[in-house]
Parts: sequence; structure tokens; C-alpha cells
Amino acid sequence: MNPVRVGICGLGTVGGGTFNVLTRNRQAICARAGCDIVIEQIGARRDNPSCATGDVPVSRDIFAVADNPNVDIVVELIGGTTVAKELVLRAIANGKHIVTANKALIAMHGNEIFAAARERGVSVAFEAAVAGGVPVIKAIREGLAANRIEWLAGIINGTSNFILTEMREKGRAFDDVLKEAQALGYAEADPTFDVEGIDAAHKLAILASIAFGIPLQFSKIYTEGITQISTTDVQYAEELGYRIKHLGIARDAGEGIELRVHPTLIPEKRLLANVNGAMNAVLVKGDAVGPTLFYGAGAGAEPTASAVVADIVDVARTLNADPSHRVPYLAFQPDAMSDLPIHPIEEVVSSYYLRISALDRPGVLSQVATIFSDAGISIEALIQKEPAPGEDHVPLIMLTNRTEERKIAAAVAQLEALDSTDGKVVRLRMESLSG
Ligand code: HSE
Repeated sequence: MNPVRVGICGLGTVGGGTFNVLTRNRQAICARAGCDIVIEQIGARRDNPSCATGDVPVSRDIFAVADNPNVDIVVELIGGTTVAKELVLRAIANGKHIVTANKALIAMHGNEIFAAARERGVSVAFEAAVAGGVPVIKAIREGLAANRIEWLAGIINGTSNFILTEMREKGRAFDDVLKEAQALGYAEADPTFDVEGIDAAHKLAILASIAFGIPLQFSKIYTEGITQISTTDVQYAEELGYRIKHLGIARDAGEGIELRVHPTLIPEKRLLANVNGAMNAVLVKGDAVGPTLFYGAGAGAEPTASAVVADIVDVARTLNADPSHRVPYLAFQPDAMSDLPIHPIEEVVSSYYLRISALDRPGVLSQVATIFSDAGISIEALIQKEPAPGEDHVPLIMLTNRTEERKIAAAVAQLEALDSTDGKVVRLRMESLSG
């Protein structure tokens, strides 16, 4: 078998981890690939003190790797979407296969990159772009290939999960925990990507593409982060038997597909409700297999390197096989599925948690209940506490049955307009995640 020659672009956290894992486990990795895997060149603006690169040539110009005639696979680990896109397209034009951990790049420019790769007959592998070391892309694309995927729901941003976990377990404030997540290296360079749900939306776009065989549609994802979540709501949810998790949800809704990222109440007994700290997990429901759960570290040098190296092994294997046997990077379905519309959030059906600040006086509860009954929304649970000393408003916590988003939005607008309520109504979606 011919050796496969790899060029690594970027020697930061993930690049360094990839170099170290490939070097440390080289023998086993090559045995699994069925051929020798050689690090031919590294392109990095600076060295990484945790990597002993030894004799491997290091170029300060990453494009030298894309142009190196001896490199078969370019491993893009520089991040970002501008230089990274240029690098990947240049490498593809030069006939190189691509392995990348770059979720933003794939979510935003994947359609263009895949088209270029298809044209040139090369592979693009991106397991590390979603849920770090958890091999969920391979699992959906290959392990669950027999299934029609009905829905998936994932905790796919470790920073948000870490913050929500600390708020629930220790009653800590949002800002304080975010600072710690940054110090621990979970957060993106721009942490608004984490807490505003953008990072999770990048990953959901990729998962939905693989699960449903649809083009990448990042811009159509309804995206909400965790910045509006208060410790108060975390505690009320707990009292009602729920946990608030930041989920990416993709569902085949028959005539269209739901793609949404938002904080969600889920029953505390669900496995997903018990995925804590910075861990990631993706629950996938296939029509044949039923629910399957994929859990593990969603970030970090070596967990992410684990997925990067697995992709290198996959590509290396296919390079020594008949080209028609190469695993496709996306399996667009030839049927109508790939043209299905993405449902706007107003059409999505869900249950809701609502927290209303209401005046503590006779008749207010009945006004609130009338709004719900007129809208045809059933109240499933209700908590009202006594007012705190000196307070004339009380929190009313309600769980509703499943209803259309547009109906709840109209009811909330009516509630907020009442003289007897104060401020914005807190509204969070709930999912049972059963069947
Ligand atoms: N910032 C990301 C997270 C890192 O918190 O999950 C891995 O993509």
C-alpha cells in the first residue's frame, strides 16, 4: 500500500492535539488505515510548545501545504471562515482531500466546498466539526444508514451546557460561569457564538444535512442562546421536574423540516437531561433502531483530535480502495426530501414554560386563564407562590400543552398587555423527547 501523506494546517489546540495523537498512536493508527500515514508538512504561523515536531518541515505559509505536491490530505485546523475557505478551495483545486474540524466553515460554505470537491473527485471529512470527539456524523451516516431519521436533539455546545449546569447545581450567576468557561478553554474565541446559540446552529446545520440528506441551511435555523436564562427559571423548572438544556433540534415534520436551537425544558429523567458540565450528547431517533444516544467530550485538544485522526484514517483507507467505494461526504437524497422547506418557527408545535409576574389581587388568575382558554391552549401545571415581603407582584409559573408557536406568541402579547402583569413574560419551549 502507498503511504498517505498528510499536511496539517494550524498547530493550535486541535492542530497540536492531532499532531500528538498521530505521533503517539502511529502504529495502531496505520494498522487501522491499512497503510503508512506520514505527516509530510505542517503549516502554522507559530509553534506549539506541546508538540515536538522534530524533522517534520514547518512552513509559516499555510498555503504552501495546499500547494505541496507530496501532500494527499490537507487537514484544516486554522478555524475561521475566510482564510480557511481559501485554503480548502485551493487544496481541493490541487486535488487534495480535506479533513477539517471547522464547523463554521462547513455550515456556511459547505455547499460550495462540497460542489468543488465533487467536481475534483476528492473527499471532505468533518467529523470533528460536531460534538468534538463523539463520532456522531459517522454514526448517523454509516451506523444508522438503514434508518429514516425522524428527529435528533443534541447538546452540542459545551460552554452553554457548562453554564446551565453550574447555574442549576450551584445557583451561580451566568456571567461568572461564562468567565470560568473561557478560562477553561471551552468557549469560542468570540463567546457570543456559544451563548447566542450560533456555534450550536453551525453544528445543527451539519447534523441535519447528514440526517436528512438536505443541503446545508444554516441561515434558516431558528437560533436562540442562553443569555435570557435566569437562575430563577432554572430553579422553577427543577421544581416542576424538568431541566433546562440548550438543544439543537432537527425534526422531519412531514411536509417540511424543523431546524431550531434554543433553551428547552426536558423531563429530568431523560438521559439528555443528565448530560452535565461541558459534555455533549446527541439523541437520534431512527425509524428502525429507535432512540440512540451519542455522548462524550465536545471540545478539547485530544478529544477533537480523536475525530480528526479518525477522518484521516477513513480517507487514507478509501485512497487505497476503489474510488467508487469512497464514503460520500454527504448523501443528498435523490427524492423530494432534499427540497423540503424548513418550517419557520411560527409553525413549530411545542409545549411551553411561562413565567408571568402578576399583581396579587382577585381576578388576575382568571384574566390569565381566559387568555389561554380563548386561544385554545391548555394549562398542564401551575405554580403560584405567596408574594415576597413588601412585593405586590407574584410569579405565576405555567406549563402548557403542545401548541403552535404563533398561538403562544399571541397569548404572551396579550398577557404582557394586561394592567395586572409586569414586564416581559419568560417563555421557554419544552420537549418530552420520547418516541
Ligand atoms: N465552543 C465550543 C463548545 C467548542 O463550547 O462546545 C467545541 O466546538
